Amino acid sequence: MKIKNIVLGVTGGIAAYKAAELTSRLKKEGYDVRCVMTKSAQQFLSPLTLQTLSNHPVITDLFAAPTTQWNVEHIALAKWADVFIIAPATANIIGKMAAGIGDDFLSTCVMATKAPIVLVPAMNEAMYEHQAVVDNIALLKKRGCFFIEPAVGKLACGDSGKGRMEEPNVIVDYLKRLGRYDLTGKKILITAGPTREALDPVRFLTNHSSGRMGYALAEAAYERGALVTLISGPVNLAAPTGVDVIKVDSALAMYEAVLARFDEQDAVIKAAAVADYRPETVSAEKIKKKDGDWLVKLVRNPDILAELGGRKTRQILVGFAAETNDVEANARKKLVAKNLDLICANDITEAEAGFGTETNRLTIYRKDQSKISLPLMSKKQAADLILDQIGQLWQNE
Ligand code: C5P
Repeated sequence: MKIKNIVLGVTGGIAAYKAAELTSRLKKEGYDVRCVMTKSAQQFLSPLTLQTLSNHPVITDLFAAPTTQWNVEHIALAKWADVFIIAPATANIIGKMAAGIGDDFLSTCVMATKAPIVLVPAMNEAMYEHQAVVDNIALLKKRGCFFIEPAVGKLACGDSGKGRMEEPNVIVDYLKRLGRYDLTGKKILITAGPTREALDPVRFLTNHSSGRMGYALAEAAYERGALVTLISGPVNLAAPTGVDVIKVDSALAMYEAVLARFDEQDAVIKAAAVADYRPETVSAEKIKKKDGDWLVKLVRNPDILAELGGRKTRQILVGFAAETNDVEANARKKLVAKNLDLICANDITEAEAGFGTETNRLTIYRKDQSKISLPLMSKKQAADLILDQIGQLWQNE
């Protein structure tokens, strides 16, 4: 897909001012941008600003005389779009889209488009966490809409939290990647999350992995055209759009799921935190407490990645190394021992770069001994940079 024409829908939130910079940046990148503003958006930003920056009339009213040569304007504009982006997207437009309501120009036009839809939510954190919004976003993702999640920071209402509209430069980068489709047709298998090693029907051993890094990788790979299989341990995350998700529980189940699909893959990225050990025996009944200690014997789980390293033919293999000490030495050792092409290492003792966080600070080590140290960034941005590295390896083949 080559993106040239972008429809930018602007809805009514204070972040609407960022739509001006976004329009300006998109124009500088050579895109043709046509803006649509809702009634509330015009309370925050003048249509004249977007008209001047986009060099096109801004559409604000479903029933006004057409501003273009198209007489059924909401349909013509919907067809013209290569990408339809709504930034900022309020809880209201998200709700209307989820419910199929078209009561103004923007909501009818976005309903009529067959172009990829990218939503950039911005709202107060409590609103973003409201079950209705959460459910609506999950539904829209299921229908294939893309989301650029809000960033964490100071909000206009004075609160701090997740709700700030992502910055225009990040949105432009996102659109460039979406348009690049540089991984089209590549089969990529990604693992994510922790595993659970049962002791009995109610107890298990696990770890702190949230699955966020693996899910971000799956989302990013799909957006770039890859055919993505995500093998996920138990996590609290919505399935990413367009991705084939296979849920597993234990390391052994993950081992079987990965091995069964390995031969057809072009790349495997193992972001899961797989338990190295499992209880030797699993009781079929709940183990009753007794006086004294309970000694559990743990036995080794297979190392899935090492196994893939031994079997690989053409596949690119990427591992993760979550370390608490000697990060570089440990990562390099694993890269060689598991026969990997890349390993992404992070120091999980760092505040913003470990389990459960939205951000990561990774260093990517390559097989040829070189390394790239990434600054602190969102897991999604890190995911794209990891995919860039894989793309480069394919280019050099
Ligand atoms: O050896 P370590 O567990 O630190 O290596 C981490 C990498 O190996 C990760 O990519 C992880 O998904 C993978 N791994 C695996 N199977 C295991 C243990 C780790 O695939 N049993």
